[in-house]
Amino acid sequence: MQIRNIYGRKILNSVGNWTIEVKVELDDGTVGSASVPGGLSKGASEVDTIEAEAALFIIEEIKDELIGIEFKSTFDLDIKLLQMDNTENKSKLGGNTLLGLSVAFTKAIAITQRHETYEYIHKLLNPEIPLEVINFKMPKYMMLMLEGGAHGSSDATIQEFMAIVNEIPRGVEIYNSVKKELHNLGKSTNVGAEGAFSPEGFDNRMSLEIMTKFLRDEKIALDVAASTIPKEDIPNYDELLTDFPISSIEDPLGEEDWANWEFFASKHLNKIQVVTDDLTTTNPKLLTEAIKRNVGNAIIIKPNQIGTIYETLKVVKMAKDAGWKVIVSHRGTDTNDDFISDLAVGIQSDYVKFGSPARGERVAKYNRLLEIAALI
Ligand code: PGA
Ligand code: ZN
Repeated sequence: MQIRNIYGRKILNSVGNWTIEVKVELDDGTVGSASVPGGLSKGASEVDTIEAEAALFIIEEIKDELIGIEFKSTFDLDIKLLQMDNTENKSKLGGNTLLGLSVAFTKAIAITQRHETYEYIHKLLNPEIPLEVINFKMPKYMMLMLEGGAHGSSDATIQEFMAIVNEIPRGVEIYNSVKKELHNLGKSTNVGAEGAFSPEGFDNRMSLEIMTKFLRDEKIALDVAASTIPKEDIPNYDELLTDFPISSIEDPLGEEDWANWEFFASKHLNKIQVVTDDLTTTNPKLLTEAIKRNVGNAIIIKPNQIGTIYETLKVVKMAKDAGWKVIVSHRGTDTNDDFISDLAVGIQSDYVKFGSPARGERVAKYNRLLEIAALI
């Protein structure tokens, strides 16, 4: 398949900053479009993001090198892009530029091959398994109820308080119950960056207490995003694990603090899910290190942390081979693109973490998951 043309334009993300949308047109006229998210609490090892205007300029500059060349799959295009960039941090072309091209091409080629995007992704990851024999399953949902840290305005230092549910409607029910309860308490139900409540004066324990009220046998997942808060604000995990039904903790410690990660994991790994995000940044080298040092048992997958679908799927495969759980995640500053819903089902991820069932950019992803659930 050959690319006939590539178009880029500046669009707004969910917090009023500029990002890019990329459209890739194939030689049969099929068009795939992708808009690129960004992070609010980014890991230090994420690849470089180039400012939107400059990224568009780069697309104009490199497109002649991509047009008219035969790319059999997304991997072919991604390998070419990686060769053209040829830097460790994607500093020449920008991780955001590469991801826009990679995802837009992926969507276009799926259409050309008469596949849903999630089917095409499954083929990319598992070329040996015919699509007809696959019994696609939906992931579980880590649905966001309250947010603090860099994402909210409450006193909570933990960034994300999520309920783990098997079905979207159940998550929505808990979300609306928390909202009603906050309203009854005279607290604000304004939402934070990812659509969750973040009432003034609510600390970590109060946030956990209010959501625990509405859980049945569901468990809680936390994202502490510890790299973004002062060390003294990192909570006492023993206390929280004793007092609340928490089964998953993401980034409990800072991204430089490997020794304490090892200690934390040795204590908790057999009881809860220890999730790496800022520590591994969807990066094959960092995941290799994390597996070797046995610091976790689940990884957050965010394609824009690394830049291409090729590398993203490489990390997914490594994680699965090591027996780690896989969690596909949105970003703090996101767009209405619902590609990661297809990615999650395509790779058969264990969980998705797409924020609250509020704010258009989050809802777009849940609505695509609902659509996929009806298709599989
Ligand atoms: P982000 O954080 O704001 O960097 O996307 C989300 C997360 O840490 O999971
Ligand atoms: Zn995180």
